[in-house]
Amino acid sequence: MTVTHVPTTAFSDQKPGTSGLRKKVPVFQQPRYVENFVQAIFDTIPEREGTTLVVGGDGRYLNRQVVQTTLKIAAANGFARVLVGQGGLLSTPAASCVIRKHGAIGGIILSASHNPGGPDGDFGIKFNTANGGPAPEGITAAIYARTRTLTEYRIVDGPDRDLDALGTTRIGDMTVEVIDPVADYAALMRDLIDFPAITRLFAAGFRMRFDAMSAVTGPYAKAILEDTFGAAPGTVINAVPMEDFGGHHPDPNPVHAHELYDLMQGADAPDFGAASDGDGDRNMIVAPGLFVTPSDSLAILAAHAHRAPGYAAGLAGIARSMPTSRAADRVAASLGIAAYETPTGWKFFGNLLDAGLITLCGEESAGTGSNHVREKDGLWAVLMWLNILAATGRPAQDLVRAHWAAFGRDYYTRHDYEEIDAEAAKRLMDGLRARLAELPGRRIGDLTVTSADDFRYVDPVDGSVTEQQGIRIGFAEDARVVYRLSGTGTAGATLRVYIERYEAARDRLERPVAEVLASAVQAAGELADIAAITGRSEPSVVT
Ligand code: G1P
Ligand code: ZN
Repeated sequence: MTVTHVPTTAFSDQKPGTSGLRKKVPVFQQPRYVENFVQAIFDTIPEREGTTLVVGGDGRYLNRQVVQTTLKIAAANGFARVLVGQGGLLSTPAASCVIRKHGAIGGIILSASHNPGGPDGDFGIKFNTANGGPAPEGITAAIYARTRTLTEYRIVDGPDRDLDALGTTRIGDMTVEVIDPVADYAALMRDLIDFPAITRLFAAGFRMRFDAMSAVTGPYAKAILEDTFGAAPGTVINAVPMEDFGGHHPDPNPVHAHELYDLMQGADAPDFGAASDGDGDRNMIVAPGLFVTPSDSLAILAAHAHRAPGYAAGLAGIARSMPTSRAADRVAASLGIAAYETPTGWKFFGNLLDAGLITLCGEESAGTGSNHVREKDGLWAVLMWLNILAATGRPAQDLVRAHWAAFGRDYYTRHDYEEIDAEAAKRLMDGLRARLAELPGRRIGDLTVTSADDFRYVDPVDGSVTEQQGIRIGFAEDARVVYRLSGTGTAGATLRVYIERYEAARDRLERPVAEVLASAVQAAGELADIAAITGRSEPSVVT
Protein backbone atom coordinates (compact mmCIF):
# COMPACT_ATOMS: atom_id res chain seq x y z
CA MET A 1 0.00 0.00 0.00
CA THR A 2 1.44 3.38 -0.97
CA VAL A 3 0.44 6.35 1.08
CA THR A 4 0.81 9.61 -0.79
CA HIS A 5 1.42 12.76 1.24
CA VAL A 6 -0.29 15.45 -0.79
CA PRO A 7 0.75 19.04 -0.05
CA THR A 8 -2.22 21.31 0.54
CA THR A 9 -3.07 24.79 1.73
CA ALA A 10 -5.67 25.59 4.32
CA PHE A 11 -9.21 26.78 3.59
CA SER A 12 -10.37 29.52 5.91
CA ASP A 13 -14.06 28.55 5.92
CA GLN A 14 -14.09 25.03 7.36
CA LYS A 15 -15.67 25.92 10.67
CA PRO A 16 -18.28 23.33 11.73
CA GLY A 17 -21.68 24.83 12.63
CA THR A 18 -24.66 23.52 14.65
CA SER A 19 -24.32 20.21 12.86
CA GLY A 20 -20.99 19.69 11.11
CA LEU A 21 -19.52 21.46 8.11
CA ARG A 22 -22.35 22.38 5.78
CA LYS A 23 -21.88 24.26 2.49
CA LYS A 24 -23.17 24.47 -1.04
CA VAL A 25 -22.11 21.53 -3.22
CA PRO A 26 -19.74 23.62 -5.42
CA VAL A 27 -17.80 24.59 -2.30
CA PHE A 28 -17.17 20.92 -1.53
CA GLN A 29 -16.25 20.35 -5.17
CA GLN A 30 -13.20 22.59 -4.95
CA PRO A 31 -10.03 20.54 -5.28
CA ARG A 32 -8.71 19.36 -1.86
CA TYR A 33 -11.71 20.76 0.05
CA VAL A 34 -13.09 17.39 1.17
CA GLU A 35 -9.62 15.88 1.60
CA ASN A 36 -8.50 18.72 3.88
CA PHE A 37 -11.53 18.51 6.12
CA VAL A 38 -11.45 14.73 6.46
CA GLN A 39 -7.73 14.82 7.23
CA ALA A 40 -8.34 17.53 9.84
CA ILE A 41 -10.96 15.30 11.50
CA PHE A 42 -8.57 12.34 11.56
CA ASP A 43 -5.78 14.49 12.98
CA THR A 44 -7.95 15.14 16.04
CA ILE A 45 -8.17 11.38 16.74
CA PRO A 46 -4.62 10.62 17.87
CA GLU A 47 -5.57 7.12 19.06
CA ARG A 48 -7.08 6.10 15.69
CA GLU A 49 -4.39 3.50 14.83
CA GLY A 50 -6.01 0.05 14.62
CA THR A 51 -9.55 1.25 15.36
CA THR A 52 -12.91 1.01 13.57
CA LEU A 53 -14.55 3.92 11.75
CA VAL A 54 -18.13 4.14 10.45
CA VAL A 55 -18.91 5.94 7.18
CA GLY A 56 -22.24 6.64 5.51
CA GLY A 57 -24.59 9.38 4.47
CA ASP A 58 -28.05 10.37 3.41
CA GLY A 59 -27.47 9.58 -0.27
CA ARG A 60 -27.48 13.13 -1.53
CA TYR A 61 -25.42 14.37 -4.47
CA LEU A 62 -21.63 13.85 -3.77
CA ASN A 63 -22.39 11.16 -1.15
CA ARG A 64 -20.81 8.27 -3.06
CA GLN A 65 -17.83 10.27 -4.19
CA VAL A 66 -17.03 11.54 -0.70
CA VAL A 67 -17.43 8.04 0.76
CA GLN A 68 -14.76 6.84 -1.70
CA THR A 69 -12.41 9.70 -0.81
CA THR A 70 -12.96 9.14 2.90
CA LEU A 71 -12.13 5.43 2.58
CA LYS A 72 -8.83 6.22 0.86
CA ILE A 73 -7.85 8.81 3.43
CA ALA A 74 -8.89 6.51 6.28
CA ALA A 75 -6.65 3.75 4.90
CA ALA A 76 -3.73 6.17 4.83
CA ASN A 77 -4.39 7.21 8.43
CA GLY A 78 -4.10 3.88 10.18
CA PHE A 79 -7.71 2.79 10.75
CA ALA A 80 -8.00 -1.01 10.88
CA ARG A 81 -11.58 -1.30 9.70
CA VAL A 82 -14.30 0.84 8.16
CA LEU A 83 -17.97 -0.08 8.28
CA VAL A 84 -19.80 1.55 5.41
CA GLY A 85 -23.52 1.36 4.69
CA GLN A 86 -24.49 -0.34 1.43
CA GLY A 87 -24.73 2.21 -1.37
CA GLY A 88 -22.90 4.60 0.94
CA LEU A 89 -26.14 5.02 2.92
CA LEU A 90 -26.64 5.31 6.65
CA SER A 91 -29.27 7.45 8.28
CA THR A 92 -27.87 9.67 11.00
CA PRO A 93 -29.50 7.67 13.84
CA ALA A 94 -28.45 4.39 12.22
CA ALA A 95 -24.86 5.65 12.01
CA SER A 96 -25.03 6.46 15.72
CA CYS A 97 -26.38 2.98 16.40
CA VAL A 98 -23.64 1.28 14.33
CA ILE A 99 -20.86 3.30 16.01
CA ARG A 100 -22.08 2.25 19.45
CA LYS A 101 -22.84 -1.37 18.63
CA HIS A 102 -19.50 -2.08 16.94
CA GLY A 103 -17.29 -0.12 19.32
CA ALA A 104 -16.13 2.27 16.60
CA ILE A 105 -13.96 5.22 17.52
CA GLY A 106 -16.33 7.44 15.60
CA GLY A 107 -18.09 8.00 12.33
CA ILE A 108 -18.16 10.33 9.37
CA ILE A 109 -21.73 11.13 8.38
CA LEU A 110 -22.31 12.80 5.04
CA SER A 111 -25.42 14.92 5.19
CA ALA A 112 -26.84 18.38 5.14
CA SER A 113 -29.88 17.04 6.97
CA HIS A 114 -33.10 18.66 5.76
CA ASN A 115 -31.43 21.09 3.34
CA PRO A 116 -32.11 20.51 -0.37
CA GLY A 117 -29.63 18.34 -2.30
CA GLY A 118 -28.40 18.05 -5.88
CA PRO A 119 -25.64 19.88 -7.76
CA ASP A 120 -26.98 23.26 -6.60
CA GLY A 121 -28.03 22.05 -3.17
CA ASP A 122 -26.15 21.58 0.07
CA PHE A 123 -23.70 18.97 1.27
CA GLY A 124 -22.23 18.36 4.68
CA ILE A 125 -19.70 16.34 6.67
CA LYS A 126 -20.26 15.59 10.35
CA PHE A 127 -18.02 13.76 12.77
CA ASN A 128 -19.55 11.68 15.55
CA THR A 129 -17.49 10.35 18.43
CA ALA A 130 -17.33 6.92 20.07
CA ASN A 131 -20.54 7.46 22.06
CA GLY A 132 -22.32 7.79 18.70
CA GLY A 133 -23.10 11.47 19.20
CA PRO A 134 -22.08 14.64 17.37
CA ALA A 135 -18.57 15.78 18.25
CA PRO A 136 -18.75 18.17 21.21
CA GLU A 137 -17.63 21.79 20.98
CA GLY A 138 -14.07 21.04 22.11
CA ILE A 139 -13.55 18.59 19.27
CA THR A 140 -15.21 20.69 16.56
CA ALA A 141 -13.04 23.61 17.69
CA ALA A 142 -9.96 21.40 17.40
CA ILE A 143 -11.02 20.25 13.93
CA TYR A 144 -11.49 23.85 12.86
CA ALA A 145 -8.11 24.85 14.29
CA ARG A 146 -6.51 21.95 12.40
CA THR A 147 -8.13 23.02 9.10
CA ARG A 148 -6.37 26.37 9.49
CA THR A 149 -2.86 24.92 9.79
CA LEU A 150 -3.02 21.82 7.60
CA THR A 151 -0.17 21.50 5.09
CA GLU A 152 -0.77 18.00 3.74
CA TYR A 153 -3.26 15.17 3.64
CA ARG A 154 -2.50 11.48 3.34
CA ILE A 155 -4.29 9.27 0.85
CA VAL A 156 -3.99 5.81 -0.63
CA ASP A 157 -4.19 5.51 -4.40
CA GLY A 158 -6.32 2.91 -6.06
CA PRO A 159 -9.67 2.19 -7.63
CA ASP A 160 -13.00 3.06 -6.07
CA ARG A 161 -14.66 0.32 -3.99
CA ASP A 162 -17.91 -1.36 -4.90
CA LEU A 163 -20.30 0.13 -2.34
CA ASP A 164 -23.29 -1.87 -3.50
CA ALA A 165 -22.18 -5.42 -2.78
CA LEU A 166 -22.39 -6.50 0.87
CA GLY A 167 -19.17 -8.02 2.16
CA THR A 168 -15.57 -7.38 3.07
CA THR A 169 -12.70 -6.10 0.96
CA ARG A 170 -9.39 -4.42 1.79
CA ILE A 171 -7.68 -1.19 0.98
CA GLY A 172 -4.08 -1.84 1.91
CA ASP A 173 -4.10 -2.95 5.56
CA MET A 174 -7.60 -1.64 6.18
CA THR A 175 -10.72 -3.78 6.02
CA VAL A 176 -13.77 -2.28 4.35
CA GLU A 177 -17.04 -3.92 5.34
CA VAL A 178 -20.10 -2.94 3.33
CA ILE A 179 -22.97 -3.55 5.76
CA ASP A 180 -26.76 -3.62 5.48
CA PRO A 181 -27.62 -0.08 6.62
CA VAL A 182 -30.93 -1.19 8.16
CA ALA A 183 -30.11 -4.40 10.07
CA ASP A 184 -28.44 -3.09 13.25
CA TYR A 185 -30.95 -0.27 13.54
CA ALA A 186 -33.96 -2.53 13.10
CA ALA A 187 -32.60 -4.92 15.73
CA LEU A 188 -32.27 -2.05 18.20
CA MET A 189 -35.84 -0.94 17.52
CA ARG A 190 -37.06 -4.47 18.14
CA ASP A 191 -35.50 -4.32 21.63
CA LEU A 192 -37.18 -1.02 22.51
CA ILE A 193 -40.58 -1.14 20.86
CA ASP A 194 -43.44 -3.62 21.13
CA PHE A 195 -43.27 -5.00 17.58
CA PRO A 196 -45.96 -7.69 18.13
CA ALA A 197 -48.48 -5.13 19.42
CA ILE A 198 -47.92 -2.87 16.42
CA THR A 199 -48.18 -5.85 14.06
CA ARG A 200 -51.58 -6.65 15.60
CA LEU A 201 -52.62 -3.02 15.22
CA PHE A 202 -51.97 -3.13 11.47
CA ALA A 203 -53.61 -6.54 11.18
CA ALA A 204 -56.74 -5.00 12.70
CA GLY A 205 -56.93 -2.51 9.83
CA PHE A 206 -54.92 0.46 11.12
CA ARG A 207 -53.81 2.66 8.23
CA MET A 208 -50.89 5.05 8.07
CA ARG A 209 -48.89 7.09 5.57
CA PHE A 210 -45.16 7.64 6.00
CA ASP A 211 -43.47 10.15 3.69
CA ALA A 212 -39.76 9.38 3.39
CA MET A 213 -39.36 12.49 1.20
CA SER A 214 -37.11 10.63 -1.31
CA ALA A 215 -34.45 10.60 1.37
CA VAL A 216 -32.58 8.05 3.44
CA THR A 217 -35.39 6.75 5.69
CA GLY A 218 -37.21 5.03 2.83
CA PRO A 219 -35.41 1.68 3.16
CA TYR A 220 -35.68 1.75 6.97
CA ALA A 221 -39.38 2.58 7.00
CA LYS A 222 -40.23 0.02 4.32
CA ALA A 223 -38.31 -2.72 6.13
CA ILE A 224 -39.96 -2.04 9.47
CA LEU A 225 -43.44 -0.74 8.66
CA GLU A 226 -44.31 -2.76 5.56
CA ASP A 227 -42.08 -5.85 5.69
CA THR A 228 -42.14 -6.40 9.47
CA PHE A 229 -45.45 -4.97 10.71
CA GLY A 230 -47.33 -5.88 7.57
CA ALA A 231 -48.58 -2.35 6.86
CA ALA A 232 -50.19 -2.15 3.42
CA PRO A 233 -47.77 -1.78 0.49
CA GLY A 234 -47.61 1.89 -0.37
CA THR A 235 -47.79 2.95 3.29
CA VAL A 236 -44.29 4.38 2.79
CA ILE A 237 -44.25 6.93 -0.03
CA ASN A 238 -41.25 8.57 -1.71
CA ALA A 239 -39.35 5.56 -0.39
CA VAL A 240 -36.39 5.54 -2.78
CA PRO A 241 -33.48 7.79 -1.73
CA MET A 242 -32.56 10.19 -4.54
CA GLU A 243 -29.49 12.40 -4.95
CA ASP A 244 -31.65 15.52 -5.23
CA PHE A 245 -34.57 14.23 -3.09
CA GLY A 246 -36.69 14.43 -6.22
CA GLY A 247 -36.20 18.19 -6.27
CA HIS A 248 -37.97 18.49 -2.92
CA HIS A 249 -36.91 20.12 0.31
CA PRO A 250 -36.65 17.14 2.64
CA ASP A 251 -37.76 18.94 5.79
CA PRO A 252 -40.73 17.27 7.48
CA ASN A 253 -43.00 20.17 8.36
CA PRO A 254 -46.44 21.25 7.15
CA VAL A 255 -44.83 23.50 4.53
CA HIS A 256 -42.46 21.05 2.86
CA ALA A 257 -44.47 17.88 3.54
CA HIS A 258 -47.70 19.55 2.51
CA GLU A 259 -49.05 16.58 0.53
CA LEU A 260 -49.01 14.44 3.63
CA TYR A 261 -50.28 17.32 5.70
CA ASP A 262 -53.19 17.94 3.30
CA LEU A 263 -54.03 14.24 3.19
CA MET A 264 -54.23 14.17 6.98
CA GLN A 265 -56.59 17.15 7.01
CA GLY A 266 -58.91 15.56 4.45
CA ALA A 267 -61.91 13.27 4.78
CA ASP A 268 -59.99 10.16 3.72
CA ALA A 269 -57.13 10.63 6.17
CA PRO A 270 -55.51 7.42 7.40
CA ASP A 271 -55.20 6.87 11.17
CA PHE A 272 -51.72 8.30 11.41
CA GLY A 273 -49.29 10.31 9.30
CA ALA A 274 -45.55 10.76 9.65
CA ALA A 275 -42.52 11.96 7.72
CA SER A 276 -38.79 12.25 8.21
CA ASP A 277 -36.02 14.41 6.79
CA GLY A 278 -33.01 13.99 4.47
CA ASP A 279 -30.86 12.06 6.93
CA GLY A 280 -33.65 10.51 8.99
CA ASP A 281 -33.15 12.24 12.31
CA ARG A 282 -36.18 14.54 12.17
CA ASN A 283 -39.82 13.56 12.28
CA MET A 284 -43.25 14.99 11.67
CA ILE A 285 -46.30 13.54 13.35
CA VAL A 286 -49.84 14.27 12.10
CA ALA A 287 -53.03 12.86 13.50
CA PRO A 288 -56.19 13.01 11.39
CA GLY A 289 -57.12 16.68 11.29
CA LEU A 290 -54.47 17.61 13.82
CA PHE A 291 -50.79 18.47 13.40
CA VAL A 292 -48.77 17.53 16.47
CA THR A 293 -46.10 20.13 17.22
CA PRO A 294 -42.69 18.58 17.94
CA SER A 295 -42.78 20.17 21.39
CA ASP A 296 -46.10 18.46 22.13
CA SER A 297 -44.88 15.21 20.63
CA LEU A 298 -41.93 15.14 23.04
CA ALA A 299 -44.27 15.76 25.97
CA ILE A 300 -46.77 13.11 24.87
CA LEU A 301 -44.03 10.52 24.28
CA ALA A 302 -42.65 11.29 27.73
CA ALA A 303 -46.06 10.87 29.36
CA HIS A 304 -46.61 7.47 27.69
CA ALA A 305 -43.06 6.14 27.27
CA HIS A 306 -43.53 3.46 29.94
CA ARG A 307 -45.86 1.65 27.50
CA ALA A 308 -42.87 0.76 25.30
CA PRO A 309 -40.78 -2.20 26.56
CA GLY A 310 -37.50 -0.25 26.36
CA TYR A 311 -38.84 2.40 28.75
CA ALA A 312 -41.00 0.28 31.04
CA ALA A 313 -38.82 1.17 34.02
CA GLY A 314 -39.66 4.86 33.63
CA LEU A 315 -37.60 7.88 32.67
CA ALA A 316 -34.56 9.30 34.44
CA GLY A 317 -35.22 12.83 33.24
CA ILE A 318 -36.20 14.85 30.17
CA ALA A 319 -34.26 17.53 28.31
CA ARG A 320 -35.41 20.00 25.69
CA SER A 321 -33.59 22.69 23.78
CA MET A 322 -34.26 26.16 25.10
CA PRO A 323 -36.57 27.32 22.25
CA THR A 324 -38.68 24.14 22.55
CA SER A 325 -41.97 24.77 24.37
CA ARG A 326 -42.25 23.98 28.04
CA ALA A 327 -44.79 21.19 27.49
CA ALA A 328 -42.22 18.51 28.35
CA ASP A 329 -41.34 20.30 31.60
CA ARG A 330 -44.95 19.91 32.74
CA VAL A 331 -44.78 16.15 32.18
CA ALA A 332 -41.44 15.94 33.98
CA ALA A 333 -42.94 17.79 36.95
CA SER A 334 -45.89 15.41 37.08
CA LEU A 335 -43.59 12.39 36.90
CA GLY A 336 -41.35 13.87 39.59
CA ILE A 337 -38.26 13.75 37.38
CA ALA A 338 -35.76 16.42 36.35
CA ALA A 339 -36.24 18.67 33.31
CA TYR A 340 -33.19 20.23 31.61
CA GLU A 341 -33.02 23.17 29.23
CA THR A 342 -30.10 23.06 26.79
CA PRO A 343 -28.88 25.21 23.88
CA THR A 344 -30.11 24.39 20.39
CA GLY A 345 -28.31 21.43 18.80
CA TRP A 346 -28.32 17.75 19.65
CA LYS A 347 -24.73 17.74 20.88
CA PHE A 348 -25.81 19.37 24.13
CA PHE A 349 -27.88 16.32 25.07
CA GLY A 350 -24.86 14.00 24.84
CA ASN A 351 -23.43 14.58 28.31
CA LEU A 352 -26.85 14.33 29.97
CA LEU A 353 -27.53 11.04 28.17
CA ASP A 354 -24.08 9.61 28.85
CA ALA A 355 -24.39 10.51 32.54
CA GLY A 356 -27.79 8.83 32.75
CA LEU A 357 -29.51 12.06 33.82
CA ILE A 358 -32.09 11.92 31.04
CA THR A 359 -33.85 9.24 29.01
CA LEU A 360 -35.79 11.35 26.49
CA CYS A 361 -34.92 14.62 24.80
CA GLY A 362 -36.16 16.77 21.98
CA GLU A 363 -36.15 19.98 20.02
CA GLU A 364 -38.92 22.08 18.52
CA SER A 365 -37.26 21.59 15.13
CA ALA A 366 -38.81 18.14 14.71
CA GLY A 367 -36.16 16.31 16.68
CA THR A 368 -37.03 13.67 19.26
CA GLY A 369 -34.84 10.97 20.71
CA SER A 370 -33.77 8.91 23.66
CA ASN A 371 -30.77 7.27 25.23
CA HIS A 372 -30.85 4.44 22.63
CA VAL A 373 -28.49 6.38 20.35
CA ARG A 374 -26.84 9.78 20.55
CA GLU A 375 -28.73 11.46 17.72
CA LYS A 376 -32.33 12.43 17.32
CA ASP A 377 -34.20 9.67 15.61
CA GLY A 378 -37.16 10.28 13.30
CA LEU A 379 -38.30 6.73 12.75
CA TRP A 380 -37.89 5.86 16.43
CA ALA A 381 -40.32 8.67 17.29
CA VAL A 382 -42.82 7.25 14.80
CA LEU A 383 -42.42 3.75 16.26
CA MET A 384 -42.91 5.12 19.79
CA TRP A 385 -46.14 6.73 18.66
CA LEU A 386 -47.30 3.49 17.05
CA ASN A 387 -46.42 1.59 20.23
CA ILE A 388 -48.47 4.04 22.29
CA LEU A 389 -51.41 3.90 19.87
CA ALA A 390 -51.32 0.11 19.97
CA ALA A 391 -51.03 -0.01 23.77
CA THR A 392 -53.79 2.50 24.49
CA GLY A 393 -56.08 1.57 21.63
CA ARG A 394 -56.91 5.27 21.31
CA PRO A 395 -56.79 7.38 18.14
CA ALA A 396 -53.83 9.74 17.93
CA GLN A 397 -55.99 12.86 17.93
CA ASP A 398 -57.69 11.72 21.16
CA LEU A 399 -54.34 11.22 22.85
CA VAL A 400 -53.29 14.76 21.95
CA ARG A 401 -56.53 16.27 23.22
CA ALA A 402 -56.39 14.24 26.41
CA HIS A 403 -52.85 15.47 26.94
CA TRP A 404 -53.91 19.11 26.62
CA ALA A 405 -56.80 18.51 28.99
CA ALA A 406 -54.43 17.06 31.58
CA PHE A 407 -51.48 19.43 31.21
CA GLY A 408 -52.76 22.51 29.39
CA ARG A 409 -51.66 23.49 25.89
CA ASP A 410 -48.52 25.31 24.85
CA TYR A 411 -49.59 27.10 21.67
CA TYR A 412 -46.47 27.39 19.58
CA THR A 413 -45.13 28.76 16.31
CA ARG A 414 -41.75 29.49 14.76
CA HIS A 415 -41.10 32.27 12.27
CA ASP A 416 -37.99 32.00 10.11
CA TYR A 417 -36.54 34.93 8.19
CA GLU A 418 -34.25 33.13 5.77
CA GLU A 419 -31.31 34.49 3.82
CA ILE A 420 -31.39 37.92 5.38
CA ASP A 421 -28.35 40.14 5.31
CA ALA A 422 -25.82 38.83 7.83
CA GLU A 423 -24.88 42.32 9.03
CA ALA A 424 -28.52 43.22 9.60
CA ALA A 425 -29.08 40.01 11.53
CA LYS A 426 -26.13 40.80 13.76
CA ARG A 427 -27.37 44.34 14.29
CA LEU A 428 -30.78 43.03 15.31
CA MET A 429 -29.37 40.62 17.87
CA ASP A 430 -26.85 43.15 19.21
CA GLY A 431 -29.62 45.73 19.51
CA LEU A 432 -31.78 43.36 21.53
CA ARG A 433 -28.86 42.38 23.71
CA ALA A 434 -28.10 46.00 24.49
CA ARG A 435 -31.70 46.59 25.62
CA LEU A 436 -32.19 43.47 27.77
CA ALA A 437 -31.87 45.28 31.08
CA GLU A 438 -34.50 47.87 30.28
CA LEU A 439 -37.17 45.49 28.92
CA PRO A 440 -38.71 44.02 32.08
CA GLY A 441 -41.80 45.98 33.06
CA ARG A 442 -42.41 47.21 29.52
CA ARG A 443 -45.96 46.85 28.21
CA ILE A 444 -46.48 45.94 24.54
CA GLY A 445 -50.05 45.51 23.37
CA ASP A 446 -51.75 43.35 25.98
CA LEU A 447 -48.49 41.78 27.18
CA THR A 448 -46.05 42.77 29.93
CA VAL A 449 -42.39 41.78 29.79
CA THR A 450 -41.25 40.15 33.02
CA SER A 451 -37.85 38.78 32.03
CA ALA A 452 -35.26 39.23 29.31
CA ASP A 453 -31.92 37.48 29.04
CA ASP A 454 -29.39 35.91 26.70
CA PHE A 455 -29.42 32.18 27.34
CA ARG A 456 -26.23 30.91 28.91
CA TYR A 457 -25.82 27.20 29.51
CA VAL A 458 -23.70 25.61 32.18
CA ASP A 459 -23.41 21.90 31.42
CA PRO A 460 -24.38 20.11 34.65
CA VAL A 461 -22.03 17.23 33.85
CA ASP A 462 -18.72 18.85 32.91
CA GLY A 463 -19.35 22.45 33.95
CA SER A 464 -18.58 23.82 30.48
CA VAL A 465 -20.20 27.15 29.71
CA THR A 466 -21.84 28.13 26.40
CA GLU A 467 -22.81 31.79 26.03
CA GLN A 468 -25.19 33.72 23.78
CA GLN A 469 -27.52 30.87 22.91
CA GLY A 470 -30.60 32.95 22.15
CA ILE A 471 -32.50 35.87 23.61
CA ARG A 472 -35.46 34.96 25.79
CA ILE A 473 -38.26 37.35 26.59
CA GLY A 474 -40.82 36.21 29.15
CA PHE A 475 -44.24 37.82 29.58
CA ALA A 476 -46.54 37.96 32.59
CA GLU A 477 -49.31 36.39 30.47
CA ASP A 478 -47.46 33.05 30.29
CA ALA A 479 -46.12 33.86 26.84
CA ARG A 480 -42.53 33.70 25.65
CA VAL A 481 -40.55 34.91 22.64
CA VAL A 482 -37.08 33.62 21.74
CA TYR A 483 -34.73 35.03 19.09
CA ARG A 484 -31.67 33.30 17.72
CA LEU A 485 -29.66 33.07 14.54
CA SER A 486 -29.44 29.75 12.75
CA GLY A 487 -26.13 27.89 12.86
CA THR A 488 -26.94 25.61 9.94
CA GLY A 489 -27.77 27.99 7.10
CA THR A 490 -25.50 28.21 4.07
CA ALA A 491 -26.51 31.58 2.62
CA GLY A 492 -26.70 34.90 4.49
CA ALA A 493 -28.26 34.62 7.94
CA THR A 494 -31.49 33.08 9.16
CA LEU A 495 -33.31 34.69 12.06
CA ARG A 496 -35.52 32.31 13.99
CA VAL A 497 -38.23 33.73 16.23
CA TYR A 498 -40.00 31.25 18.49
CA ILE A 499 -43.34 32.31 19.94
CA GLU A 500 -45.45 30.46 22.48
CA ARG A 501 -48.28 30.98 24.93
CA TYR A 502 -49.65 28.64 27.54
CA GLU A 503 -53.34 28.05 28.02
CA ALA A 504 -54.84 25.81 30.67
CA ALA A 505 -58.54 26.71 30.60
CA ARG A 506 -60.53 23.71 29.36
CA ASP A 507 -62.65 25.80 27.00
CA ARG A 508 -59.62 27.47 25.41
CA LEU A 509 -57.67 24.43 24.23
CA GLU A 510 -58.87 24.34 20.61
CA ARG A 511 -58.47 27.89 19.42
CA PRO A 512 -56.70 28.83 16.16
CA VAL A 513 -52.96 28.98 16.84
CA ALA A 514 -52.47 32.22 14.89
CA GLU A 515 -55.20 33.92 16.91
CA VAL A 516 -53.85 32.85 20.30
CA LEU A 517 -50.35 33.95 19.36
CA ALA A 518 -51.23 37.15 17.49
CA SER A 519 -50.31 39.59 20.24
CA ALA A 520 -47.07 37.77 21.08
CA VAL A 521 -46.12 37.74 17.38
CA GLN A 522 -46.81 41.46 17.24
CA ALA A 523 -44.69 42.04 20.34
CA ALA A 524 -41.86 39.91 18.89
CA GLY A 525 -41.75 42.10 15.79
CA GLU A 526 -41.84 45.37 17.70
CA LEU A 527 -39.32 44.45 20.39
CA ALA A 528 -36.66 43.53 17.84
CA ASP A 529 -37.69 45.97 15.13
CA ILE A 530 -37.67 43.04 12.71
CA ALA A 531 -39.32 44.68 9.70
CA ALA A 532 -37.16 47.80 9.72
CA ILE A 533 -33.87 46.01 10.30
CA THR A 534 -34.34 43.03 7.99
CA GLY A 535 -36.48 44.75 5.37
CA ARG A 536 -38.94 41.86 5.59
CA SER A 537 -42.55 42.40 6.51
CA GLU A 538 -43.28 38.66 6.70
CA PRO A 539 -41.27 35.60 7.72
CA SER A 540 -40.21 33.28 4.87
CA VAL A 541 -41.40 30.16 6.68
CA VAL A 542 -43.95 29.77 9.44
CA THR A 543 -44.14 26.40 11.17
C1 G1P B 1 -31.48 23.70 13.29
C2 G1P B 1 -32.50 23.50 14.39
C3 G1P B 1 -31.88 22.77 15.56
C4 G1P B 1 -31.27 21.46 15.08
C5 G1P B 1 -30.32 21.72 13.91
C6 G1P B 1 -29.81 20.42 13.32
O1 G1P B 1 -30.41 24.46 13.76
O2 G1P B 1 -33.03 24.73 14.82
O3 G1P B 1 -32.84 22.54 16.54
O4 G1P B 1 -30.56 20.83 16.11
O5 G1P B 1 -30.99 22.44 12.90
O6 G1P B 1 -30.85 19.63 12.82
P1 G1P B 1 -30.27 26.04 13.47
O7 G1P B 1 -30.35 26.22 11.98
O8 G1P B 1 -31.47 26.67 14.14
O9 G1P B 1 -28.97 26.42 14.09
ZN1 ZN C 1 -31.60 15.82 9.83
